[in-house]
Amino acid sequence: MARLRVGVLISGRGSNLQALLDACALPGFPAEIVVVISNEPEAFGLERARQAGVPTAVVPHRDFSDRASFDAAIATELHRAKVELVCLAGFMRLLTDRFVEDWRDRLVNIHPSLLPAFKGLHTHERALQAGVKIHGCTVHFVRPAMDEGPIIVQAAVPVLPGDSAQSLGARVLEAEHRAFPLALRLIAEGRVRVDGERAVVDAEPAGVTLLNPEA
Ligand code: GRF
Repeated sequence: MARLRVGVLISGRGSNLQALLDACALPGFPAEIVVVISNEPEAFGLERARQAGVPTAVVPHRDFSDRASFDAAIATELHRAKVELVCLAGFMRLLTDRFVEDWRDRLVNIHPSLLPAFKGLHTHERALQAGVKIHGCTVHFVRPAMDEGPIIVQAAVPVLPGDSAQSLGARVLEAEHRAFPLALRLIAEGRVRVDGERAVVDAEPAGVTLLNPEA
């Protein structure tokens, strides 16, 4: 069966991109990354894509006078590569409503918290401040409102005594590297459908839970 054609948008180091590249390299994985696009020319993730032999494109946001023309340039690259699903993997630009609607239910993001808690930035600092005992990450379909949209996969990690934002963030990042490839697999296998504003996932269990302090 044809593999799902995936485009990944990045802005930086690309460790989640790496997790997706590694997953796609597994025999029988139902998706392939056909283009990696960065708004930052120096993003290390571009190097990871090159290493994996995946075509890259740089669309520097500073070259565009408004968000609509920047998003249009991104869309051109995605269409050129015949992308069917877009993964946001540490892409640090807000996309226009128009772009988000054009890619409705074909655009997924990974966020470093258990949504709907801690939308936005500095999630690990805020989780520590709030004193939550469980934290994690979420892969979700993107909607115009930031960090909203049907939840596909979540992975939970414990908050341990003495955690810093850095140690907690590292634990969440490991969980991200499992959750994102899992979500991609589920979508590519046709096991995810959107019903209203909820994603219905045909999998047991629907998500992953990593409440193991050693994880
Ligand atoms: C991750 O924590 C992701 O959840 C957030 O941005 C970070 C990107 O890290 N959206 P990387 O570039 O994938 O290493």
